[in-house]
Amino acid sequence: MKNKEFKTFSTQLGGVSRRDFMKYCTIMAASMGLPLSAGAKIAEAVVSPKRPPVIWLSAQDCTGCTEALLRSTHPTLEHLILDLISLDYHETLSTPSGHLAEEAKAESIKANKGKFILVVDGSVPLKDGGIYCMVAGRPIVDIIKETAAQAAAVVAIGSCSSWGGIPSADPNPTGASPLSKVVTDKPVVCIPGCPPNPYNFLSTVLYFLTFKKLPDLDDKFRPKFAYGRLIHENCERRPHFDAGRFATEFGDENHRKGYCLYKLGCKGPETYNNCPTILFGDVGSGSWPVGTGHPCFGCSEGGVGFHKPLFSKASLHLVTTPDFYPHVVETQGPSVMGTLGGVAVAAAAAGAAYAAVNSAAKTLEEKEEGKK
Ligand code: SF4
Ligand code: F3S
Repeated sequence: MKNKEFKTFSTQLGGVSRRDFMKYCTIMAASMGLPLSAGAKIAEAVVSPKRPPVIWLSAQDCTGCTEALLRSTHPTLEHLILDLISLDYHETLSTPSGHLAEEAKAESIKANKGKFILVVDGSVPLKDGGIYCMVAGRPIVDIIKETAAQAAAVVAIGSCSSWGGIPSADPNPTGASPLSKVVTDKPVVCIPGCPPNPYNFLSTVLYFLTFKKLPDLDDKFRPKFAYGRLIHENCERRPHFDAGRFATEFGDENHRKGYCLYKLGCKGPETYNNCPTILFGDVGSGSWPVGTGHPCFGCSEGGVGFHKPLFSKASLHLVTTPDFYPHVVETQGPSVMGTLGGVAVAAAAAGAAYAAVNSAAKTLEEKEEGKK
């Protein structure tokens, strides 16, 4: 990455330091399961003046996906998103409105035919000819179909667009459907979540930008780097599950002790997402539902979130339960010590990972500056 390119980019970001920027790109590489050295490639792609045009359409949505992107606490994330891509049309964020916004969208689609990324949030109502979501006097389903036909890649952001989400809950009066039911001639990359973690969206866009192809997807078209593991596999309360220590009521002694939330309806054992590992909010200091004491309700998993009753127990067929449960005396100190021990180990592991990322970012930066 040339100094001149970085300086222009840094000015646009309000003066982000080169070291912070390299660290950020290295973290993004790590979160995608790429070698830390891929951070340099990502950095180059980000500062490139050729930014992909993005058309963002909203169907039956609550704007939560957009809010999650903009309210992220990382100081540069929202700038990165908005500077990394050329956001040519977004109902909520575009400066023009009415026919001026529609004209800007049409111009961008015409000028960037076959090159732009289409992002859609919200489910698509198909009942009664799609009249339950009209934009500029037309059913959104028609607008999505004609826009997708000219896009290079299509991304469904959020659970509503990925698999129907809240609007598709029984009795689904509008015929709310996932984007993949409307766009059938090309893969629709899904970034589910209610809201989705902004890092999963940004990482996907960065991957596409850097490597000019989509990341590896699972059978539900979700990027494997983000949705490859059950929440239950990385949950900080997992030792309690394995030891048979459960909270049975909100606020009971076991809940206060941080025990497993399975009996309160936690759907972590049947939900794929990386919430426990990347958290929400700033990297390294954020939180996530189970971390705050609330069971995961499976917001990112089709057929689970908004479909299964909140207090029903998760299906465990994907989880191997231990052959042996140790005898548990609920009030004894060792369980608390065990928790503290677990936290200490997790903290040490997080510290080591952070140190590794810092060191990799520093090495990259020094290499770039020709010091090594
Ligand atoms: Fe964590 Fe929920 Fe699994 Fe318990 S059931 S270990 S709280 S993901
Ligand atoms: Fe959603 Fe569960 Fe994560 S509710 S935000 S998938 S912990």
